[in-house]
Amino acid sequence: MVAEVQLNNNMFVQPYFVKLGSNKCNEIDMMPGVFQWSIDKLLPEIESNLKIGLNKILLFGVDNVKDANASSANNENNAIAESIKEIKQQFGKDIFVISDVCLCAHTTDGHCGTEGANITSNHASVEILADMALMHAQMGVDMVSPSDMMDGRVMVIREKLNDNAFEGVSIMSYSAKYASAYYGPFREAANSAPTEGSNRKHYQMDIRNKQEAIKETLLDEAEGADIVMVKPALAFLDIIQTVKENTFLPIACYNVSGEYSMVKFGANKGLFKESEIVIENMTSFARAGASVIISYHTKDILQNNWLP
Ligand code: PBG
Ligand code: ZN
Repeated sequence: MVAEVQLNNNMFVQPYFVKLGSNKCNEIDMMPGVFQWSIDKLLPEIESNLKIGLNKILLFGVDNVKDANASSANNENNAIAESIKEIKQQFGKDIFVISDVCLCAHTTDGHCGTEGANITSNHASVEILADMALMHAQMGVDMVSPSDMMDGRVMVIREKLNDNAFEGVSIMSYSAKYASAYYGPFREAANSAPTEGSNRKHYQMDIRNKQEAIKETLLDEAEGADIVMVKPALAFLDIIQTVKENTFLPIACYNVSGEYSMVKFGANKGLFKESEIVIENMTSFARAGASVIISYHTKDILQNNWLP
């Protein structure tokens, strides 16, 4: 009765990595329990998820076709496009599908915009991202989620969606996304690491900055975001709380790959009880102010009834 926060299954979103082909369900070395899926394998996985109340997913497309202009991002037959289409065809409104919108899985240099995501190519990148969001909408996605951190992309995506009668497709923007070492395992999973020696510090946020997180959040809100996000989550609880105090939008936090793998490897070694440490982390996100939690632990939590 006096608990100040309560976790519930509606808060959780499970990320999935999808790729073309068939009969594939390949575990990521650095992320035990997380897989790259071909669509034929993912569909029955979703069906069983629905039975345990897991009905929100965030899709990341893995792509081996890469070029300077990220052209494969807008190929209507790529892994993420086909997945959205088939998932929505089969499950309709029973499942809420969110798609990642970013170029790093499609550029040769692995950056989230073209030309190394330089400031001079920002606008060109934003146009490609907006086309990508529109294509996902045409495939039936419920919400798009730009993770690129280019400036002004939320507004251009919103306008493009509206101009094409997709007012109903919402936007969850990675508003305060920090340049973090916690993304390491993800880059293996998504095959999206930036070229050796380069990093994303010229477009992702500086870990020393907190006020800037508010600024970035309010910009995205003004541009039309429906949900704003703080990422990573565990090392950035202060940012979640500060953002919560400065917006009325729902706040999502992304419990990222490195945070997941630390817990997973630690639990496998017997450092702590997995269910307890996972629920402690999730509760902290909610206590800080997040009402949407994107986590690779989602399936474990719901399947094993870990929610208190
Ligand atoms: C890339 C992207 C990243 C993540 C989500 N989208 C990695 C990065 O920015 O390098 C990280 C997710 C995770 O670590 O789980 N746009
Ligand atoms: Zn990216």
